[in-house]
Amino acid sequence: MANLIITIDGPAASGKSTIARMLAERLDASFLDTGAMYRAVTLAAMQARIDMSNERELLDVLNQKKFQFAAKDSKMMASIDGIDVTDGIRTPEVTASAKYIASAPKVREKLVEMQRQFAADEEKIVTEGRDQGTVAFPNACLKFYLTATPAERARRRAIEEGQTTRDQIEQIQREIEERDASDQSRSVGPMKPADDAIVVDTTDLSVEEVVEKILEYAEGRIYRLPKMLWPRFARWLCKVFCRTFFRLHPQGRENIPDYGPLVLICNHQSFLDPVFCGIFVKRPLYYLARDTLFRGLFGKLLVSIQTIPVKRGEADLPAMRTVIGKLKQGNGVCLFPEGTRTSDGKITAFKPGFGLLCRRGNAAVVPVLIDGAFETWPRHKKLFSIGGSIFIQYGKCIPASEVKKMDDRQLAEFLTDTLRKMQNDCRLKQGKEPYSYG
Ligand code: DC
Repeated sequence: MANLIITIDGPAASGKSTIARMLAERLDASFLDTGAMYRAVTLAAMQARIDMSNERELLDVLNQKKFQFAAKDSKMMASIDGIDVTDGIRTPEVTASAKYIASAPKVREKLVEMQRQFAADEEKIVTEGRDQGTVAFPNACLKFYLTATPAERARRRAIEEGQTTRDQIEQIQREIEERDASDQSRSVGPMKPADDAIVVDTTDLSVEEVVEKILEYAEGRIYRLPKMLWPRFARWLCKVFCRTFFRLHPQGRENIPDYGPLVLICNHQSFLDPVFCGIFVKRPLYYLARDTLFRGLFGKLLVSIQTIPVKRGEADLPAMRTVIGKLKQGNGVCLFPEGTRTSDGKITAFKPGFGLLCRRGNAAVVPVLIDGAFETWPRHKKLFSIGGSIFIQYGKCIPASEVKKMDDRQLAEFLTDTLRKMQNDCRLKQGKEPYSYG
């Protein structure tokens, strides 16, 4: 799945396509106009002269024909069995009949599957339609729902089609209202804003103003934190410190997604683990630390580098809500589910509580192994020794959809096993004795 997914839903002629295209261009992202898919299936069904209200026949058309879609020159290209239908799907006849395809549940299911497949091949994508934020991409990083009054939408469509007499505009408005009613009332994938969508009323805004407004939100959500200078500078300082005193061996940095909710699950060997884990991650990370550390100047320092205080020995609900909120905004959070530093270098079984945070925050999970930190700064020593080798390995990313398939215990066991295996592989490569985990 793409690392960055922005969905734009809304009614006919609300400006979704134009805005999604412009936004994709500005963010250097790919673009998907899902209406084109419904239109292409409509055209294929019309060409096959089938009964449009028969879902079985519609499905046959969808399965037997080869549909292809591609964003090219800020246009959604569509073809059926290799024949270009980019213009053919925009006729009034197709527009009028698309409602049959749009209200066939099994057809919608298949088209949503194709939309997810399309997104899987892209790194960043802006996708528009009626159900993108609600059904196709419920975990999207950012969701928008565009609206405008029917009169304004009719006016825009009339100008587009060169039909500007009063009668023509009124007729267009009636058609638009009919399509709204049909889109809102179907039982599967009805048109409505997702609970977490930002609703933008475009009635009195120009296209450019809407794009700027959306970019403002997007930058706030996606790019604001990386732009905060102090955490970045702090990370750089930590890197200089670590490179001065240790020999660092980072691996697998490409496994860290650039965008979207992310939880790094790390084993805990020393006080320096949050630093080791974070210095190679080029996106802002939040950490948790026990609340008793948040005193005086040190407390202020912790807050400034995005550390969230958490009460020990109890379920700290406000802290959990803060973490989930940070994840939902598309941030990364670094967690140490062993709860405390190891006493012998081995990884103790993870406490399962973090699973809820991952699921509720719609987060992907990356396991992070730290090895060598125990030898460098074991629990019983007051100070670290200089010159030790520290291995920091970022394992394969588990997408949010996979994380959600596991309950808390399964996720904790899976990650404990994964990190133990990574640890023993890493130790064997260094010529060290692997740990026995029975
Ligand atoms: O946005 P559009 O006018 O090109 O959409 C064409 C038809 O497809 C319209 O009837 C609504 C329907 N549609 C849908 O039901 N779900 C989507 N995600 C996109 C379009």
